[in-house]
Amino acid sequence: MIDQLLRRQALIVVGKGGVGRTSVSAALATVRAADPARVLAMEYDRLGALAAAFGRKPGLDPAQAAPGLWTMVLDGAHQLEEYLSTVVPSRALLKAVVNSGAYGYFVDAAPGLRELIIVGKIFHELELRPPAPPWDLIVLDAPASGQALSVLRMPLAAHETFGAGIVGRTAHRVAQFLRDPARCAVVLVTSPEPFAVSETLETHAALRGLGLEVAAVIFNRMRAPRFDAHDLVRLARRPALRAAAPRLDDLGALARDELRRAAGQRRALALVRRRLGAPIIELAECRGVEGLALVRELARQLAALRAGEASAQPQAHQP
Ligand SMILES: Nc1ncnc2c1ncn2[C@@H]1O[C@H](COP(=O)(O)OP(=O)(O)OP(=O)(O)O)[C@@H](O)[C@H]1O
Ligand SMILES: [Mg+2]
Repeated sequence: MIDQLLRRQALIVVGKGGVGRTSVSAALATVRAADPARVLAMEYDRLGALAAAFGRKPGLDPAQAAPGLWTMVLDGAHQLEEYLSTVVPSRALLKAVVNSGAYGYFVDAAPGLRELIIVGKIFHELELRPPAPPWDLIVLDAPASGQALSVLRMPLAAHETFGAGIVGRTAHRVAQFLRDPARCAVVLVTSPEPFAVSETLETHAALRGLGLEVAAVIFNRMRAPRFDAHDLVRLARRPALRAAAPRLDDLGALARDELRRAAGQRRALALVRRRLGAPIIELAECRGVEGLALVRELARQLAALRAGEASAQPQAHQP
């Protein structure tokens, strides 16, 4: 399933703020790039957290951040100018258009034009720009759920907004691309915390309302305690240990908290499995690891899961 996911042309990584969208996007891009493949990881945030995860500065054009991996920031105004440069014949004329009050007014007033341009850029990179060789995968580190939904909704609604003109037709093609499960997949990232899980369920329903299927739910920051309730009982029954460690009760309370959290985590997984029916990928909490080391560790976990799935496949029958 992870292999199938990574072989799409575009992955749109959506989730509640702070659950790890950027880290997971960077890890997905890293795993595919190692195949080897050419991967473009796009981010919405001008601060460039994704580029920073690779130790790079953010930029508006693709810049190589690691072997096989490029990053770029999506910016509606910049992308629109880039698009116009393909249709406006001279640079001087383009400059005059872009700097004109009418242009600014149009961009600000046209509902959803910026959002459309942002999603349209993925399509443009894959279909219309002739990079040589082309990208094997584009990963979009989308904004947090609510804003991601408005960005994704736009090309789907733009056909009505912009009619049958060139913008409306392009929007229609982008919408078809987003809804084609063979080419594009939405990945929902969540943590096991109750707020994140309930937002995941809501986002899933909203995406489905837009005709977008969620290809996988990634449960990030899963913590598996290395002990169980029996271990706690055994510990409490050892008087020698109790005498040696007078704060054993505090330790016991902490351990019980951890077990309660683990039980909550299992319930969250079961709920999402039951309600969404989408495949689930679990990534572990990497305590004290951040930046590029975190991306590499999450990529290692994903690659191990992908290898495990491949070895679990029934072997092709040898003649
Ligand atoms: N599996 C993990 N183990 C440990 N730390 C993690 C893990 N995943 C993410 N983090 C940490 O959680 C924080 C948020 O992660 P990240 O920036 O990837 O989330 P985000 O969803 O992109 O956030 P934002 O909504 O601000 O864009 C970061 O400090 C990151 O290092
Ligand atoms: Mg982020």
